[in-house]
Amino acid sequence: MKTIEIAPYAGALLKSLRGFGYSPETALADLVDNSISAGADHIDLSIDWNEGEPRIAVRDDGPGMSHDALLEGMRFGGDENQERGPDDLGRFGLGMKTASLSQCRRLTVVSHHAGSTSSMCWDVEKVLKAKNWCVETGTFPDPFEHVAIPTETEGTLIALEKMDELGGLFGLDKEAFFSKIKDARDHFAMVFHRFLDGDARRIRITINGRAVDGWDPMLRTHPATRPLGAGRIGIGAQAVQVTPFVLPHRDRFANEAEFNAAGGPGGWAERQGFYVYRAKRLVVAGSWLGLGGHREWTKDESSRLARITIDLPQSADALWRIDVRKARARPPAALRGRLSAMGGQCRDRAREVFAWRGGQIRTMKPGQEPPAPVWNEEHRSGKRSYRINREHPVIAQLLGGDASTRRLARAAISLIERSVPVERIWLDISENVEAAVDLEAVDGFLVDDLVAAIGASKAGASPEEALDGLLRSIRLEAPALRKAVLKKLGKSDE
Ligand SMILES: Nc1ncnc2c1ncn2[C@@H]1O[C@H](COP(=O)(O)OP(=O)(O)O)[C@@H](O)[C@H]1O
Ligand SMILES: [Mg+2]
Repeated sequence: MKTIEIAPYAGALLKSLRGFGYSPETALADLVDNSISAGADHIDLSIDWNEGEPRIAVRDDGPGMSHDALLEGMRFGGDENQERGPDDLGRFGLGMKTASLSQCRRLTVVSHHAGSTSSMCWDVEKVLKAKNWCVETGTFPDPFEHVAIPTETEGTLIALEKMDELGGLFGLDKEAFFSKIKDARDHFAMVFHRFLDGDARRIRITINGRAVDGWDPMLRTHPATRPLGAGRIGIGAQAVQVTPFVLPHRDRFANEAEFNAAGGPGGWAERQGFYVYRAKRLVVAGSWLGLGGHREWTKDESSRLARITIDLPQSADALWRIDVRKARARPPAALRGRLSAMGGQCRDRAREVFAWRGGQIRTMKPGQEPPAPVWNEEHRSGKRSYRINREHPVIAQLLGGDASTRRLARAAISLIERSVPVERIWLDISENVEAAVDLEAVDGFLVDDLVAAIGASKAGASPEEALDGLLRSIRLEAPALRKAVLKKLGKSDE
């Protein structure tokens, strides 16, 4: 058998390699990955508007590269057999080149290692013109503001110059440009949060001199975040750790701004689902991964509080089909069943919290019998209906009056049950219209109503107990309201 070599045309291939579909923030995150894998502690990005001729520099304080290492690093499709440690965030030997050149036409890498500085540059024009894979050597990028070219201390500088319309940072006005920088900052805060202030090796990232703070999608430090049962699924080197969380109801946030910040980039509904981490770097930031029951799950408003982490070892890459941009992953068939079960459970719990303002009420003591709800859910032949609970102490009292009151009460309850504006509420929720009933506000009517209802509660209970029971039955924990009711009853809160 004879073989002949058919080498690709450099220009044509380079063009298609530039079109992988990176956004500015995913491209820059790929460069930060390299710095982290190399062991850098500080990564400093400089993103310069430069009067509409933007340029970017990424400088790290890692060990840098020797001339030979840089040469290999500049190669498209680097060494396949390269040994990779478990913390290496690289994979295809393409990232540095494809990510950079997705945004610009000139990539210069300057690296200082063991006392010597090397530099190499891919310039798209030069490759197109020379029709071969030639790099410039020994050239430095134009000096940037606050960016030092590493000629004395170890480290690497990646400079992106000559942006073009293929990338996302060219042809913008100044305002749009700076809003892209904000996007990049938010993206870094999210994808590297475990490195910025979590359980991974600690690093520092600065953008134009300002530190990036980590953003934990699981809100682990919020007291109302509820972790559900975690589990390890799969076997051997392919095993992954899955940890579901139900995030706090909107009412549990101090204010609107805090609630919105907790939603994350794109907002609450968009950011629900599985969060896939590879070697602690976030790859998928909220997706139901094509899982579901008889239909694929969608990002419904009602399940927006469900977020689940999946921790992949780097060895699971191929199985999970991590793409070059590290923006996508697909769970292997063998794990889909378990993941669907865990996802389904988390979605159910999240919907309860969404609909029932946090459910778990702190005033409920262990061993205490659960409060009688005001509404009951009934399932009959696949349909769900909502009925007022005749046994609720206040309702029971109403139904225990004389014959004519009783008849009227029954009629009123029946009318209320049959006229719940279910479709309207459902529509409002799916359109993200927040309910306007602010039950926690201390409003005079509610105070009076509760005082009257306490009178109707179980004999033998103290007014405090009766009040707590009532608040639990409307699934509400409202310290200010509780205080106001007790004051009206002439009791001071203990
Ligand atoms: N900031 C850096 N510091 C040290 N070495 C680097 C840095 N960036 C890239 N490299 C080297 O260049 C190689 C190629 O990087 P890249 O094209 O992103 O592919 P990959 O990360 O998949 O290996 C890396 O494997 C690494 O050896
Ligand atoms: Mg890389």
